[in-house]
Amino acid sequence: MNSATLMGTERTGPDLTNVGNRLPSDEWHLMHLFNPRIVVEESIMPSYPWLFEIKSQAEAGERVVNVPRVLLENNAQVVVATDEALQLVAYLKSLKQTPLPDGLAPQVFLYKQDATAQEQDQAAELGDELDGAQLYAANCQACHQANGEGMPGAFPALKGSEIVLDENPDRLINIIMTGYNAREQFGEMPAIGKLNNLTPAEITAIINHERTSWGNNAALVSEKQVEEIISLVNSLNAKTENYEK
Ligand code: HEC
Repeated sequence: MNSATLMGTERTGPDLTNVGNRLPSDEWHLMHLFNPRIVVEESIMPSYPWLFEIKSQAEAGERVVNVPRVLLENNAQVVVATDEALQLVAYLKSLKQTPLPDGLAPQVFLYKQDATAQEQDQAAELGDELDGAQLYAANCQACHQANGEGMPGAFPALKGSEIVLDENPDRLINIIMTGYNAREQFGEMPAIGKLNNLTPAEITAIINHERTSWGNNAALVSEKQVEEIISLVNSLNAKTENYEK
C-alpha cells in the first residue's frame, strides 16, 4: 500500500504494489525498461539495455519495441525484447493491490494534492471544481506525454487528434472507459477510466483539459453530457457481456 513511510522524507521510486492496474501496458513497460527517460522525462531509474537486443532485423515471433529512432545509432536497427524482459513485464503487470482486511480502502497512489482554498475559489469561479491538468498527469501522461504528442510507434498524439477534437465526445469517452486497440502501429490502450475508477466529473475535467491544451481548441463538454455517455457505454458493455455468456 502506497502510504507514508515513517522517518525519512522521500521515496526514490514509486510503490509498485498496484502497478499492474496503474500501467497495464506491455509497450509502456518495455520502453521504460529499455530507457525510463523515453516515457518519464525526469526519471532517475537506470536503463536496462541488457534485457534487449539491438539487431538489424527482427525474427518471426520476436517482440519489437518501438523506441525512438534517435536512441539508435543506425536507422535500420530494431530493438527486440529478450525473454527475460517479457517475463519481467508479465510479473510487473501481475502486481495488483490485494483487497485489504475489513474492506479498508487502499490509499490512492502517491498523495492526492488538495487544492489550496485560493485555487478552489478560482476553480469554482471558472465552473471547474477539478484540476484537469493534474488528473491528466496522473492518468494519461505516462503514455500520451505532458506535451500531448505521445510517442511514435507506441502512443498516439492527443494534440491535434480528430477523436479528441470531435464535436461529439462519444468516441473519446468510450476510449477512456473501455480502452482502445484499433491500429497496428500503436500498442493497446487499457480501460484506464474503469481501472482507475474515474468519476464522470473527473473524466469531464480530463476531456476539457485535452480539448483546450497544446493548441487544441474544441468546445467544452458538460459533466451531464459525459455522465449520459458513460451510462450508455456501460449498458452496451453489460449487454455484450451477457451475450458472450
Ligand atoms: C498505458 C498507456 C496509456 C494510458 C495510460 C492512456 N492511453 Fe490513451 N492510448 C494509448 C494507446 C496505445 C492508444 C492507441 C490505441 C490504438 O490506436 O490501437 C491510445 C489512444 C488514445 C486516444 C485516441 C487518439 C487518436 O487520435 O487516435 C485517446 C483520445 C486517448 N488514448 C485518450 C487517453 C486519455 C484521456 C487517457 C487518460 C485518462 C489515456 N488515453 C491514457 C495508451 C494509453
